Amino acid sequence: MRRTLKAAILGSTGLVGIEYVRMLANHPYIKVGYLAGKGSVGKPYGEVVRWQTIGQVPTEIADMEVKPTDPKLMDDVDIVFSPLPQGAAGPVEEEFAKHGFPVISNSPDHRFDPDVPLLIPEVNPHTISLIDKQRERRDWRGFIVTTPLCTAQGAAIPLAPIYMNFKIDSSLITTIQSLSGAGYPGIPSLDVIDNVLPLGDNYDNKTVKEISRILSETKRMVDDDDNNLSLGATTHRVATIHGHYEVIYITFKEDVTVEKIGETLDSFRGEPQNLKLPTAPDKPILLINQDARPQVYFDRWAGNPPGMSVVVGRLGQINRRTIRLVSVIHNTVRGAAGGGILATELLIEKGYIDKR
Ligand SMILES: NC(=O)c1ccc[n+]([C@@H]2O[C@H](COP(=O)([O-])OP(=O)(O)OC[C@H]3O[C@@H](n4cnc5c(N)ncnc54)[C@H](OP(=O)(O)O)[C@@H]3O)[C@@H](O)[C@H]2O)c1
Repeated sequence: MRRTLKAAILGSTGLVGIEYVRMLANHPYIKVGYLAGKGSVGKPYGEVVRWQTIGQVPTEIADMEVKPTDPKLMDDVDIVFSPLPQGAAGPVEEEFAKHGFPVISNSPDHRFDPDVPLLIPEVNPHTISLIDKQRERRDWRGFIVTTPLCTAQGAAIPLAPIYMNFKIDSSLITTIQSLSGAGYPGIPSLDVIDNVLPLGDNYDNKTVKEISRILSETKRMVDDDDNNLSLGATTHRVATIHGHYEVIYITFKEDVTVEKIGETLDSFRGEPQNLKLPTAPDKPILLINQDARPQVYFDRWAGNPPGMSVVVGRLGQINRRTIRLVSVIHNTVRGAAGGGILATELLIEKGYIDKR
């Protein structure tokens, strides 16, 4: 009999924090036991939270008090979800890991530590074993696992099965991202209404860097002596609420057909599907053949649980060696909280979190 595990959510009032609360309300074996914050400490969650997602604040959570972000107050907590802001997250997460907690982080601060997994459960599950090195090197009882930037996941999830099965030469990605990707209150309205806001070199570069790390960690099935892939990203924000739309061109070192690429995407499954983890969608990639789809408004909540599938469409043959596709990812669900919960389920399955 599996015992119920108690989770603490740091940054619980933020846009990613609320998705953790929403998704864990019906989870079969993870229950919210501690809601942490900063400015909201001491207040009832239901009064202080801006519930900018579907549904309502779960009734059993609404009266819970938001408490300090302090590992010493969390004796009975088994798992710590950390959607904390960049900069604040790094030292806090280390402190929790030192105190023995498994920390599942959505923040960027530890994404490039070589001993910290940057995990998409379907794509690079074997990187979980980095935790052993991490604990040994840092002498921690707990550990940190990170999930990638939402934007990087929107491209890496469709690119991964293609990269594993074909010889890719280069890929160019253009993103059109939602406001919730920047947290609350996020971007000033005057910067983004009636505008397409370029996110700039820094954001472009970090997107490329994360996708490169993730793809380099996949298990390749093709022989390719030179698997150096040239990647470019141009990122933008527009006034949509949730859902990142990404246009991806891929050039191969060999002739490909759009049909073969479609079959590869459609048949892609990973360990979470094989293990039937509760937060695993049947299909991590939902291929859509309709013209002028995917659309952010209609497709961001795709999959079961809602928002956990990346929708891919507009597959097009540009020439014998180049194809185009478009993806839509729910940035705060698959790109953050849902990805964090799925990672946790896999960590439990692999024995890194006690499931007694
Ligand atoms: N939004 C996305 O789509 C997305 C996707 C992937 C990853 N991420 C990452 O997830 C993290 C959170 O993003 P978000 O969009 O949820 O941000 P957000 O809406 O701005 O929420 C931030 C939360 O962190 C708390 N907080 C702020 N400073 C803190 C501190 N020093 N100590 C403890 N708690 C603090 C706030 O609590 P109070 O309200 O109590 O002050 C609030 O609950 C960021 O690192 C972001 O890069 C976001």
